[in-house]
Amino acid sequence: MEVTQVLLSAQSVDSTVRKHAEETLKQFQEQNLPVFLLSLSAELASEEKPVDSRRLAGLILKNALDAKEQHRKYELVQRWLSLDVAVKSQIRAYLLQTLSSTVSDARSTASQVIAKVAGIELPQKQWPELIGSLLSNVHQVPPHVKQATLETLGYICEEVSPDVIEQDQVNKILTLVVQGMNANEANIDVRLAATRALYNALGFAQANFSNDMERDYIMRVVCEATLSPEVKIRQASYECLVSIGSTYYEKLAPYIQDIFNITSKAVREDEEQVALQAIEFWSSICDEEIDILEEYGGDFTADSDVPCYYFIKQALPALVPLLLETLLKQEEDQDQDEGAWNLAMAGGTCLGLVVRTVGDDIVPLVMPFIEENLSKEDWRRREAATYAFGSILEGPSPDKLTPIVNVALNFMLTALTKDPSSHVKDTTAWTLGRIFEFLHGSAVENPIITPSNCQQIVTVLLESMKDAPNVAEKACGALYFLTQGYEDLGSTSPLTPYFQDIVQCLLNVTHREDAAESRLRSSAYETLNEVVRCSTEETARLVLELVQVIMQELHKTLEAQKLSSDEREKQNELQGLLCGCLQVIIQKLGVSEATKFAFMQYADQIMSLLLGVFACRSATVHEEAMLSIGALAYATGPNFAKYMPDFYKYLEMGLQNFEEYQVCSVTVGIVGDICRALEDKILPYCDGIMTQLLKDLSSNQLHRSVKPPIFSCFGDIALAIGENFEKYLMYAMPMLQSAAELSAHTSGADDEMIEYTNLLRNGILEAYSGIFQGFKNSPKTQLLIPYAPHALQFLDSIYMEKDMDDIVMKTAIEVLGDLADTLGSNAGSLIQQSMSCKDFLNECLSSEDHLIKESAEWARLAISRAISV
Ligand SMILES: *[C@@H]1O[C@H](CO)[C@@H](O)[C@H](O)[C@H]1NC(C)=O
Ligand SMILES: *[C@@H]1O[C@H](CO)[C@@H](O)[C@H](O)[C@H]1NC(C)=O
Ligand SMILES: *[C@@H]1O[C@H](CO)[C@@H](O)[C@H](O)[C@H]1NC(C)=O
Ligand SMILES: *[C@@H]1O[C@H](CO)[C@@H](O)[C@H](O)[C@H]1NC(C)=O
Repeated sequence: MEVTQVLLSAQSVDSTVRKHAEETLKQFQEQNLPVFLLSLSAELASEEKPVDSRRLAGLILKNALDAKEQHRKYELVQRWLSLDVAVKSQIRAYLLQTLSSTVSDARSTASQVIAKVAGIELPQKQWPELIGSLLSNVHQVPPHVKQATLETLGYICEEVSPDVIEQDQVNKILTLVVQGMNANEANIDVRLAATRALYNALGFAQANFSNDMERDYIMRVVCEATLSPEVKIRQASYECLVSIGSTYYEKLAPYIQDIFNITSKAVREDEEQVALQAIEFWSSICDEEIDILEEYGGDFTADSDVPCYYFIKQALPALVPLLLETLLKQEEDQDQDEGAWNLAMAGGTCLGLVVRTVGDDIVPLVMPFIEENLSKEDWRRREAATYAFGSILEGPSPDKLTPIVNVALNFMLTALTKDPSSHVKDTTAWTLGRIFEFLHGSAVENPIITPSNCQQIVTVLLESMKDAPNVAEKACGALYFLTQGYEDLGSTSPLTPYFQDIVQCLLNVTHREDAAESRLRSSAYETLNEVVRCSTEETARLVLELVQVIMQELHKTLEAQKLSSDEREKQNELQGLLCGCLQVIIQKLGVSEATKFAFMQYADQIMSLLLGVFACRSATVHEEAMLSIGALAYATGPNFAKYMPDFYKYLEMGLQNFEEYQVCSVTVGIVGDICRALEDKILPYCDGIMTQLLKDLSSNQLHRSVKPPIFSCFGDIALAIGENFEKYLMYAMPMLQSAAELSAHTSGADDEMIEYTNLLRNGILEAYSGIFQGFKNSPKTQLLIPYAPHALQFLDSIYMEKDMDDIVMKTAIEVLGDLADTLGSNAGSLIQQSMSCKDFLNECLSSEDHLIKESAEWARLAISRAISV
């Protein structure tokens, strides 16, 4: 087969040609993977071939080695490892050969593929000669090959962890990289590649950063590179500095003054992409110091890991004016452009972080800027001053801020209605939102919102909701926080007199022609939901009226027919927002004794609307509608049974949809809600549900995040149907056991994996707990005896591993209690034989977490009963 032509056709503008070529490639891959990969690597290596086919060949190779999805990636890795050794070594040779190509695209693609292969093979101790062969001769080769070599080394460092490469080779890599960055290196491409490689290699430089001389040298080279005449090199070297700021924060003291000097020059004078990185450096230092201060508070002790060097506090007098200057560099239309990022925004973000880092100290430094510029003619100055004001609201103490805010509030409210500039109004509404978010109830003595200004605030915010979409969106946000501040007031709220207006106004916003801009519609619904959630009994009658409105709106979306795909997407989105609102209303009205009765008259209608929403789709279910179903089931309890015959098919559809794993996961959660609502009335549906859940678990395409909720769901079902779970034991238990074995050991796993493992353990434990409890007092408890040793072994193993989180600990001790409680004397001897039950129990009994302690007390009681009989 002529692979070149197929690769070119696969990039054709003619979709028929393209599809055909893609199909051919797919078949080739399926029929003979080794030859397929070999041909691609030969294509990439061949200087005679067109650059487009070489590039695509490399890309396909890369995708054959790595994938975003965890289990897919695992499969690809296994597939590569199982290839014939001769094939792999031929492919590697082609790849290395490509690094000398004169075509830069080919070299760069090969670099990435080599790194992917290295990412698989180096941890397996395969391809041991790779780094050595890259490093050998590197000083004799032409610049373009040196550039490709550096790029490859950089990607390899990004791909593998430092312990995979021998220290001796790490040293050589770092030396080569830093030399490549040095001013003595004449070739610009080499310097750029070296600078970018250093960025990836910084994690390998621990040893060098602990040695003063070597660190000085690296820092000097990086700082010099920030002054390069090449803008890309300056940008890349600032990226290195940003990374050094967070990776080696504790080593920065000797350099911070110099770094301040070069960054401030860059912020003021350099091209935007460089200036942004220079600001980013200070943001990253703020992040470090915020973390350190949050962890240790003010009192640093000798045994803490890293002390706070207060770099930000020291730089404050110079840093604050620098950042305030950037605030004045707004772009004309930045409020409309949603993905916009520019100097003013970066500077504003950094200022906000600085405020959070230093607190009160910043207030006197920023106030003169605000006071002088807040009412200047030039909109940029008013906007910058308002932004600065909004920025200082999170961090300083309320004592410091309240007097200032009390003075400024009136000014802000006037500006929000009267300022001629839409930018200024936008930022003013944002600032008001931050006032309500951070200072709402903080000043009891001298409150910011009083009965006398509350009406004015509400009036101004509602008025602004008629303004341009970006301003109206911020006004919705401000109202959101104003409302939230009154959340726990009990039976009366100062907002009660305005409730009807607020709701009407928000509904009006959702109907605006331009509500799709600036996220306005979503924002209005989010605020409406918050208004409902925080409402009191005084306004329950009005919320009941709102139900009817929302139902009508939802009904309208169902009438639309023959939609284009664009319209269908809009319908889907609107249905999501309306279902979200219904969910909040159901949770509010359907649970409180005072409103439950009045609300229930709508339950049938709501259910039929939700079924209508499901019916709008063919193969999948609407997530928000599913969540509303959960709320409704909770509110209706056993009465939900009457909806099950019609609803069941959508439930099944959701469970079947493991490709859209969020849908599947949400649906699994709803099964739990329905089990709790229906109890044993769910029995007729259990065969179908269990079959589907077991099928999901056996599929190798199931996203791993759905597994823990499925196991918990086993527990919910068992609790609901009790001993009727008998017929599922022989299927469910082996699944639990094999998952338990997988999750017992986490050694060598990264944080993300440990977190997942804990979720999985929790799911398994909830399943055991539900099953043991479900069989309690049943004549069939003895059916569980064969499974008890395994459950205890699982508890033993996670106890030994010593890395469970508090949630797992609590569920685990409960399982021990449930097991003893249900099996009684049958469990007694097993528990006594267990290696660690006693230690585990004692550890939980002396836990500081009172929930764990409580569960442990109960487990102790259950165990002592089991042992004594
Ligand atoms: C890093 O440290 C190693 C070992 O001390 C040394 O060989 C190497 O030259 C250092 N590299 C740099 C760039 O300082
Ligand atoms: C930083 O710049 C200031 C003013 O330009 C200068 O006085 C100071 O010496 C510089 N500091 C360092 C460490 O270069
Ligand atoms: C107000 O803004 C201007 C920039 O337009 C700035 O030069 C001036 O220093 C600011 N005022 C204060 C007191 O910071
Ligand atoms: C909502 O819109 C209606 C009709 O467009 C209007 O009469 C009413 O005043 C508006 N309500 C609020 C509170 O803005």
